[in-house]
Amino acid sequence: MEFYLYKSNSLRGEITIPPDKSMSHRAVMFNSLAAGKAKISNFLMGEDCLSTISVLKKLGSKIDIDSAQNVITYGQGMNSLKEPKEILNVGNSGTTIRLMSGVLAGRRFRSVLDGDESIRRRPMGRVVKPLKMMGANINAKNNNENAPIEFRGGELKNIDYDMPVASAQLKSALILAGLRSKDGITINQPALSRDHTERLLGFMGATIKTKGLKIQVKPSNINGVDVVIPGDISSASYWLVAGCIHKNADLTIKNVGINETRSGIISVLNRMGANIKMSNKLDYSGEPVCDINISTSNLKATIISGEEIPLLIDEIPIIALAAVFAEGETKISDAEELRYKESDRISLTVEWMRKAGAEIEELKDGMIIQGNGKITGGKFSSHGDHRLAMTLGIASLISENPIEIENPEVSNVSYPKFWETLKIIGN
Ligand code: S3P
Repeated sequence: MEFYLYKSNSLRGEITIPPDKSMSHRAVMFNSLAAGKAKISNFLMGEDCLSTISVLKKLGSKIDIDSAQNVITYGQGMNSLKEPKEILNVGNSGTTIRLMSGVLAGRRFRSVLDGDESIRRRPMGRVVKPLKMMGANINAKNNNENAPIEFRGGELKNIDYDMPVASAQLKSALILAGLRSKDGITINQPALSRDHTERLLGFMGATIKTKGLKIQVKPSNINGVDVVIPGDISSASYWLVAGCIHKNADLTIKNVGINETRSGIISVLNRMGANIKMSNKLDYSGEPVCDINISTSNLKATIISGEEIPLLIDEIPIIALAAVFAEGETKISDAEELRYKESDRISLTVEWMRKAGAEIEELKDGMIIQGNGKITGGKFSSHGDHRLAMTLGIASLISENPIEIENPEVSNVSYPKFWETLKIIGN
């Protein structure tokens, strides 16, 4: 499929963003391993989260979707899963394969996790290595570095582990394995990353203690809890940047999850001088939520590095677009992790932006952008990456000439109604 997109004269209205992807995965996974029935409201019916449901069902979990699109789980406890009859296909979902690795490690049956081309290229050694140290029998392709990953039993024991990267997926896999191990796990993080796993499992009764960057997990059983999922700040980020860089914009985004381990983009845009107003602060199952208003802003360049990176890792492609419209030089560094996402988001962001007229330099661990205010248009591929497709969609709203996008429908991974909303808002 290809889309041809044109500049819009104004950007106005109220936007309801899709439910949070990270929290949807966790809510259905943890409730399937808990004791008792639970209802998950506002679950993200995107391809990635549906992959998690399909994998859990192949492992014997009973999960229904009711007429109001609530997900109903009937958890039978931590040890309720059974040997699957087929390979567990995670599609494009890194969160599914990494978190489920922690769930399947040390189970007394054989299972295999696999996914699409992009999943098979992504690093899995970071998860396989510590799980093997805990005692799990695991074999993965390319010297335990890539999917498919095969699990065959083992006894999980305690380790005290220094994580080599600030990854919430790795941290969550280890926490999940720790819950079922003989005597728990201690995890030392190099920097904070999203903490939805710690919050939700704590809420469900697991023994998890966090002190600074150290997490201690004790073997625990968990209870099913009803969860309401907030809107995904990563999906809101497209409209936040659109609102700042468009010359005639005033947008209100409803119900955005603003957990501080996810809201790095708000701190960055505030620092750049964005007109952001937050209102209606609420709490959804232990997660902070609010409405955000954003309007046309005069942005200034900034520096983004170090511990701020994991707090906005998925938003860097769209922040790079904001930087094109900010006065001065923006530098993003310490973000090499971006090369290991659904695509190499550093080189592909630099490639499309340069082709579109922006002044951008590639670094090994980031990029430097001169705010020349120029996106001239052209034909680009999403390279099968949902976040690149949506960044191109936002670029079309301000581009001098039309933007043509190949394979835009990949946005369904995290934002099923993105193009519909773009059409309505940008009219
Ligand atoms: C996620 C964690 C991040 C993020 C991904 C979702 C999660 O990945 O990029 O989109 O739900 O835990 P890493 O943990 O690999 O940084």
